[in-house]
Amino acid sequence: MSSTVRSVNDAVIEAFLGNQPDPSCRVTLRHLASCDEEEFLNLVSASTELHRPWMALPSTPEQYRAYLTRYEQPDEKSVLICVRNSGAIAGVVNVNSIIRGRFQSGSIAYAAFGPTAGQGYMTEGLALVVRYSFEQLQLHRLEAQIQPENHASLRLVRRVGFRHEGYSPELLYIDGAWRDHERWAITNTMIKIVPTPPHATLPER
Ligand SMILES: CC(C)(COP(=O)(O)OP(=O)(O)OC[C@H]1O[C@@H](n2cnc3c(N)ncnc32)[C@H](O)[C@@H]1OP(=O)(O)O)[C@@H](O)C(=O)NCCC(=O)NCCS
Repeated sequence: MSSTVRSVNDAVIEAFLGNQPDPSCRVTLRHLASCDEEEFLNLVSASTELHRPWMALPSTPEQYRAYLTRYEQPDEKSVLICVRNSGAIAGVVNVNSIIRGRFQSGSIAYAAFGPTAGQGYMTEGLALVVRYSFEQLQLHRLEAQIQPENHASLRLVRRVGFRHEGYSPELLYIDGAWRDHERWAITNTMIKIVPTPPHATLPER
C-alpha cells in the first residue's frame, strides 16, 4: 500500500479510536498493510477449515499484494481486528463496493482467524467497524449478504444489531456456484449516529 494512502487511513482510524468511549473493549482496529503479510498468510493457512466454504482470503504472497492494491481504492476498505493486549490479528472486516451520492452504502465481508475465533472478538470488532463506517467513513448503510446455512455469520450480524431485509436467489458466486443469500443491513439511524458534516457527495435534497 502506498505510504500516502496508508498514512491517511491510519490518521482516520486513530482519530476514531481516540474518541471511543468504551475502555473495556478488548479489540482495536487498523487498516491492512504490507507489513501484515506474513502474519495474515499464516492465519489464513491456519483457518482453512473455519473459512471453507464461506470465504476465500488471499493465501499466497502474490494474492496478498493484489488484495492490498484493491484496498487502496477509495471505494474499498480492509480493516483488521486486533486483540488489544497482544496485538494479534483476530479477524478482518472488509467494507466493499462503497457507493456515495444518494446511497452512502457499503457491502461487508468478514472472517475470524482460527487461533482466536469463538472468543467474542469478532462481535466486538464488527461493532467497532460499524461505528467507524458511520462516524468516519460517513456511510449511511452497511449490508451483509449471508448464505442461509452460515449460522455463525447470521448469529454474528444479529448480535451486532443488523436487521433482516430479504432473500436474494443466486446473489453471489461463492465456492464455484451462484449461491442464494439472506441480506442483512444496519443503518446509521438505527444506532443513532448521524455524520456531521454529511459526506460531500450526499445531495442536499
Ligand atoms: C462468522 C465468523 C466471522 C464468526 O466469528 P467468531 O470468532 O466465531 O465470532 P465471535 O467470537 O465474536 O462469536 C462467536 C461466539 O463466541 C461467543 N463468545 C465467546 N466469548 C465471548 C466473549 N467474551 N464476549 C462475547 N462473545 C463471546 C459469542 O457469544 C458467539 O456465540 P455463538 O456461538 O452463539 O454465536 C466466523 O465463524 C468465520 O470466520 N466464519 C467463516 C467466514 C464467514 O463465514 N464469513 C462471513 C461470510 S457471510
